[in-house]
Amino acid sequence: MKFYITTPIYYANGVPHIGHSYTTIASDIVARWKRLNNFDVFFLTGTDEHGAKIAAAAKVQNRTPQNLCDEVSAKFKEVWKLLNISYTEFIRTTEQKHIISVKKIVKILFEKGFIFKKKYEGSYCLECEKFYSQKDLDENNNCPFHKTSLVIQSEENYFFKLSFFQIKLLERISNPSHKEYIKIQPEERKNEIIGKLRLGLEDISFSRTALEWGIPLPFDKEQTVYVWVDALVNYITGVGYMINDAKFRKYWPADIHLMAKDILWFHSVVWPAILMAVDLPLPRRICSHGFFTLNGDKISKSLGNVISPGELVDKYGVDAARYLIITLIPFGPDGNISWRELTLKYNTDLANNLGNLVSRTIKMAEKYFNFQVLQNTINLHLAKRVAAILKENFADSIDNMQFNKAAEVLQDAITLINKQIEIDSPWKLFKVDIKKLSFCIDSYLQAICVIAMYLLPFMPVSSEKIWNMMGAVGNISEVAKKYFSNMIIPENGFSAPQTKLNSMEILFPRIEK
Ligand code: MSP
Repeated sequence: MKFYITTPIYYANGVPHIGHSYTTIASDIVARWKRLNNFDVFFLTGTDEHGAKIAAAAKVQNRTPQNLCDEVSAKFKEVWKLLNISYTEFIRTTEQKHIISVKKIVKILFEKGFIFKKKYEGSYCLECEKFYSQKDLDENNNCPFHKTSLVIQSEENYFFKLSFFQIKLLERISNPSHKEYIKIQPEERKNEIIGKLRLGLEDISFSRTALEWGIPLPFDKEQTVYVWVDALVNYITGVGYMINDAKFRKYWPADIHLMAKDILWFHSVVWPAILMAVDLPLPRRICSHGFFTLNGDKISKSLGNVISPGELVDKYGVDAARYLIITLIPFGPDGNISWRELTLKYNTDLANNLGNLVSRTIKMAEKYFNFQVLQNTINLHLAKRVAAILKENFADSIDNMQFNKAAEVLQDAITLINKQIEIDSPWKLFKVDIKKLSFCIDSYLQAICVIAMYLLPFMPVSSEKIWNMMGAVGNISEVAKKYFSNMIIPENGFSAPQTKLNSMEILFPRIEK
């Protein structure tokens, strides 16, 4: 079975920060989880490179927009590499294949009569790349989102007949039994969209004049395609639209478009309308999360409080940075983060709970058995308890984007093993019953292997290290794929007692301040 997931394509005028990282790591976790569950996954991310915003940023820096985009997209790729993001493809909207695909869509829309020309004057927000009508402005007549002043733009340009799709969209968004149902999450934001849709839809600007940094309209070279239309089309270009039909038919429609709330409207209204207009299938699910604030303030370049993913990785390591970004706030509402809370969670979940479990188990295996637990002392009792807890709650949490809940379930399972060690008090068995001691330690090893498999989507490198430290047999991802397909723990467990365990590496050293 195929599974296609996307992140937004990020504007190529800034630096990747913790907000972009949140969306991308969330998508990566889902992609990795689906791969472990034997789906054929396509995971798309990339950069949005056309439009007035990019042109303006390049002008300020006295360089060409292309030159700026080359640098910024390389920066995004670098950060995704650092964060171990397993994307299938990184798309750039300045790529030729994308330009071909946008022109094709625009041509079809024009030929089908969904685009018309009109003179228009309105307030435009450069940050949102969007016209606002008077009723949507804030009390100071500023952008309701950025609180910045808007520019009055008067142009004769093309419009897309969005209003034509009002009823069709309402049906597809609000009726779960519709065959083209689009599931929008969370529920509250879906209801907001439905509420707005009920009030009626205005046609939207489809092109810009006098903006050179964009894709020219095939039927009017004086105008360029509106950047949002250009951007949304990336989702079909990415899986081969116009280039590789078999690939396109295999992966489209998207199973999940993931983003923050700021751009949910474009994804759940404008994008499906364009797709309906050109007779392409609609995305199945659109998930939006909230906004990060840092110590209570909005994260922004102007406030200078952008946390860079690099800083997080320097402080906590890659896997811990991934884990912390994604679990500190629930997916959905806005949430505040602070260095203090990040470090607290690091110490609690990773240094004290998981790290401690791994290191004490290995230390016991070393001290009592010189890393080699006795043969014929396989004990799957604890592994089965851990597996049952995880089976019950983990998959649903990931499927519902409740990453912090999935992490809680994992932490509960880790705590259970730690508690069992206290109950068994294996250190008391050493001089008394070596065979029983070996059974105890084997039970921890096997249970930790189960934890390691579930940790894979969050912490791909550390899980493999834990797996190897436990002396588990085979490649963790391959074994996990097999395990997740039947949920049966092999009779001989994962970690063969006769194999020598690997000596310990401290994965999450405690951070004192
Ligand atoms: N280029 C458009 C998207 C086009 S998709 C067809 C765009 N780019 S953006 O660079 O502004 O990225 C917006 C996305 O970045 C948000 O939807 C979210 O995924 C992520 N975030 C940026 N700042 C964020 C926070 N402070 N908090 C959480 N996510 C944030 O919009």
